[in-house]
Parts: sequence; structure tokens; C-alpha cells
Amino acid sequence: MSLNQYENITVENLDQGITILKINRPKALNALNRETLNEMRTALIAISKDDRVRVLVLTGEGEKAFIAGADISEMNTLSPTEGVAFSQLGHDVAKHLEFMHVPVIAAVNGYALGGGTEMAIACDFILASDKAVFGQPEVSLGIIPGFGGCFRLARFVGFPRAKELIFTGRKIKAEEAKVMGLCLEVYPAESFMEKVLEVAKVISQQSRSAVTKAKSLMVEFSEGAGVHGKVDGESHAFGRLIRSPDQKEGMGAFVEKRKPLFEGL
Ligand code: CAA
Repeated sequence: MSLNQYENITVENLDQGITILKINRPKALNALNRETLNEMRTALIAISKDDRVRVLVLTGEGEKAFIAGADISEMNTLSPTEGVAFSQLGHDVAKHLEFMHVPVIAAVNGYALGGGTEMAIACDFILASDKAVFGQPEVSLGIIPGFGGCFRLARFVGFPRAKELIFTGRKIKAEEAKVMGLCLEVYPAESFMEKVLEVAKVISQQSRSAVTKAKSLMVEFSEGAGVHGKVDGESHAFGRLIRSPDQKEGMGAFVEKRKPLFEGL
């Protein structure tokens, strides 16, 4: 059954308790503006109250993108205070993914940049298509990761690698992401969703109460609680960079389709 009450996402309930939440803004490569984040939050709250759901899959519409990050055109219009609120909204969505009672699989079918990688690492694990591209390119826009990348990425790849990825902003393909532990498996794009659903089905056939108990304990033990003490610091640091000269140059350059030239260079 498909619920079509949203503009920018779709929620589809398949057989065997598998639900697919798909970001559906292909024109902007599924970038997350405030409207999309609000819809995701509303949908995730509804899913968390739905006893039929046994596994949730997060993915993006189309073959090109999972989520190409937070919406740069919208961020470029924010005030610093709105920047803090925007980061807090992204954190809230990520928290709903992380603390969802059932397992959440990120099915990364294409670009997962900035807020895209951050939503994926808020899920329990990541399966990638061979077209997937990950990265935290925020520093190339004069900002920092604002949806949890500063602390969650290290859980997947360790602190030195997380620092390297965030400081360089470089993009990595699926195979490299697998080597560093960011995604678990890489499947050919043609059979990608089929493979993801096979994994989801195996989970959905287990004892629901046992799986949900294991999930809640593992989220707690894997620093879930600790992370949320740090969230506010990231949001305020993110907000302080909004309207800074480097943010204006970095996002202005993206909108104008040119290379940024940062202060001091
Ligand atoms: N925000 C807004 N629009 C975006 C977008 C984004 N993050 N990513 C892509 N788009 C839009 C493009 O502006 C373009 O729109 P138009 O057709 O209207 O010009 C459309 O999507 C298609 O994109 P491209 O023409 O750029 O496609 P491409 O194949 O040449 O490049 C790409 C693809 C490499 C993903 C490139 O679009 C890109 O670099 N996007 C930005 C990625 C990025 O920097 N993400 C991080 C954002 S910051 C963040 O997320 C902060 C945070 O932590 C909260």
C-alpha cells in the first residue's frame, strides 16, 4: 500500500512488514530541504507507531541519487539562527532513524553526500549499489557536517578515516566505502533493490520482539545516548558558519556552478 500524502517522499508498505521510505525530489537529486525533512520526521513518527512494520528501508528515487545532501540553495538563504534550527531538524530526523524500534537499512542507490551520508549512518547498516558515491563535502561549501557527521561517521570508519573524509571533503565510491566499513555490501545497480529486499526479508522473518530488543540494546551500547549530548554543539557550530564569508563563497560558487575561492588562498 502506498501513502501519498507527502510532496517529497513516498512511504510504501510491502508484504512481510517491510516498509520503504523513499526520498522523492529527483530534480534536486533528492536534496533535503526543510519541507522534506519535516515530511521525513512525520513519516518516521507514524512508522514508529505502526506495529505491522518489522524492517524499514530508506532509499532515494531514481538511479542517480540516494540524497545529494542538504539543499544548498535553501541553506544559502538561511540566517545563523535558522542555520541552527535547520541542523537541529536534521538531527531530529536522524535520531528518529537511529532510535526506530525496528531495524533500518540505508539502501544507498547513488549519491549520498553531506546530509545524505549523515542520514545513511543514522541507519543500522548501509547496503550500496555499485553506483553509490559517499562523502562529507561540507568544507568545500564553507560549513561543517550538520546532521551528525562529526560524531556518527567515526562509528563506521574510525576517527582517523572520519577526519580524513571530513577534512578533505573527498567523494568515495561504493567499493572503497565497503573496504573502510562504511557500507556492508555492494550490489549491481540492476539488481540492487532485489538484494536489499532479500536482506530485509530475512530480518522480517525473525522474532520481532527479539530483533527489536536486540536493536534497542545495541543502539544504547553503541553510544546512542552519548551521541545526543553532542548534537547541540554541532548545531551551534553549524549555525555560526552560516553567513560567514566562506559559507557565502562556498554555496554561492555551487549555485553559480563555479569553483569556490576561500579566504586566505
Ligand atoms: N542541494 C540543492 N540542489 C542540488 C544539490 C544539493 N545538495 N545537489 C544537486 N542539486 C541540484 C543541482 O543544483 C542541479 O539542479 P539544476 O538542474 O536546477 O541546476 C540538479 O540537482 C542536478 O545536479 P547536477 O547538475 O550538479 O548533477 P551532476 O551529475 O553534475 O553532479 C553532484 C551531481 C556531484 C551530486 C552535484 O550535484 C553536487 O556536488 N551536489 C552537491 C553535493 C553536496 O555538496 N552535498 C552536501 C551539501 S551540504 C550538507 O549536506 C550539509 C549538512 O551536513 C547538513
